[in-house]
Amino acid sequence: MKNELILILDFGGQYNQLIARRVRECNVYSEVVPYNISIEKIKEKSPKGIIFTGGPSSVYSENAPKCDARIFELGIPILGICYGMQLMTNVLGGSVKKAKTREYGATEVNIDTTSPLFKGFESTNQFLMSHTDFVETVPEGFKNIGSTSSCPNAAMENQDKKLYGIQFHPEVNSSINGTQVIKNFLFNICKCSGDWVISSFTKDTIEKLREKIGNGKALCALSGGVDSSVAAVLLSKAIGKNLTCIFVDHGLLRKNEGDEVERIFRQQFDINLIRVNAQDRFLSKLAGVVDPEKKRKIIGEEFIRVFEEEAKKIGKIDYLVQGTIYPDVIESGLGKSSVIKSHHNVGGLPEHVDFKEIVEPLRDLFKDEVRKTGLELNIPESLVFRQPFPGPGLAIRIIGEVTKDKLDILKEADSIFREEVDKAGLARDINQYFAVLTNLKSVGVMGDERTYDYTVALRAVKTTDFMTGVWYKIPYEVLEKVSSRIVNEVNHVNRVVYDITSKPPATIEWE
Ligand code: XMP
Repeated sequence: MKNELILILDFGGQYNQLIARRVRECNVYSEVVPYNISIEKIKEKSPKGIIFTGGPSSVYSENAPKCDARIFELGIPILGICYGMQLMTNVLGGSVKKAKTREYGATEVNIDTTSPLFKGFESTNQFLMSHTDFVETVPEGFKNIGSTSSCPNAAMENQDKKLYGIQFHPEVNSSINGTQVIKNFLFNICKCSGDWVISSFTKDTIEKLREKIGNGKALCALSGGVDSSVAAVLLSKAIGKNLTCIFVDHGLLRKNEGDEVERIFRQQFDINLIRVNAQDRFLSKLAGVVDPEKKRKIIGEEFIRVFEEEAKKIGKIDYLVQGTIYPDVIESGLGKSSVIKSHHNVGGLPEHVDFKEIVEPLRDLFKDEVRKTGLELNIPESLVFRQPFPGPGLAIRIIGEVTKDKLDILKEADSIFREEVDKAGLARDINQYFAVLTNLKSVGVMGDERTYDYTVALRAVKTTDFMTGVWYKIPYEVLEKVSSRIVNEVNHVNRVVYDITSKPPATIEWE
């Protein structure tokens, strides 16, 4: 059975993913697509409804993103949010104007509660407004269904054509009962049934993969992270031993992590697993290298080489499995923001492995949905809720040259930090935390002896998207315990400092 679908046309607004989330939280499957998607493609996808996101442009500017005007003739319900409402107005013959001042913030909106979009609401409700342009006159056939003190047309509808526009953002938390507006659109207007759940996704995906791959052979690069692990287990449930996983252990993982990954996949899931212990190889490539971007590049390339060598030994394969998830694939059609660090997951695509096709079973899921799928598949919580770990691993947490000795020091210090955070019950609340081995040596005293040893920095951040974040206020007693354990238990460390910088201006990782 085909899932009900809501298509979200992305006009470059900062909340586009959030809209997709809200729709899925209502158990309706949604996809964000570029605003210029063709009419044919839309028809092919046959959505139950379409949402236009907001965006930074003005409908009158030269390069304003516009969709195919025939979209309004398809008979599919459309909800235009902010810029989306202005675009609908512009295309259908109403007028949009620039206000003298921007309206920003949570604002009282008067609404017409007889509209199916506002069913169940009081006559005023607080929503987030964030705009300069506004709809001066609604297009013919439309009715005003909302206003604020400075915006005459904060909402509009054409019930016959099932077209709706709202100037405010129902998807953000500062809009009160915002999700109810989305629910009303999905259930009162698009007539969705809301039967999309993760367990049906898991079951359907396994069946579809089985059908597609048949007796073919698949290969998966396993990193021990959540995404590749869930992808591998899905594939293994579908095709059993016709899946081979290659786990390239570059030796830059956290303490005991490599063994743990091997244990889970070999013992619990009985997956065909090849573990390559390649620490020496990576360390020799990294010898003398101090530049962070160079380290990333070397590790990425070497990773692919090792993977290719192992893949060749297996012989012909048909499918290459990738753990790509939804936020990795969303393309706004409006270009991407600038690159601060080359964040590509280690691996990329091997050039010298012969395969027919790539399979990406998690392409449509958000991170928390991937986690739910992982739990459905009985993957241990320690792996499902593992904090993000960068592909280049500890190499970008050791400032300066990476050596075996430094790696050993960092693994011990990091493991103590993680253990104490866990004991303090903070593990799920801090989104990412780790130790960094700085390149700084300083003087200390231990017993009656002078020491001259390394400084370890502790980093912990609270974030939802990892694009911005604030440093986490770990209680002093926990920091005290961590510091005293590290200097006492880890050789060659005589000082511990705590990083109290948020992102921006600092990044989460030190390199
Ligand atoms: P930054 O340091 O840019 O990190 O604030 C944001 C998030 O991305 C992770 N990160 C990486 N992940 N390869 C990865 O796969 C990388 O080269 C890389 N660099 C940073 C970082 O751990 C954090 O979660």
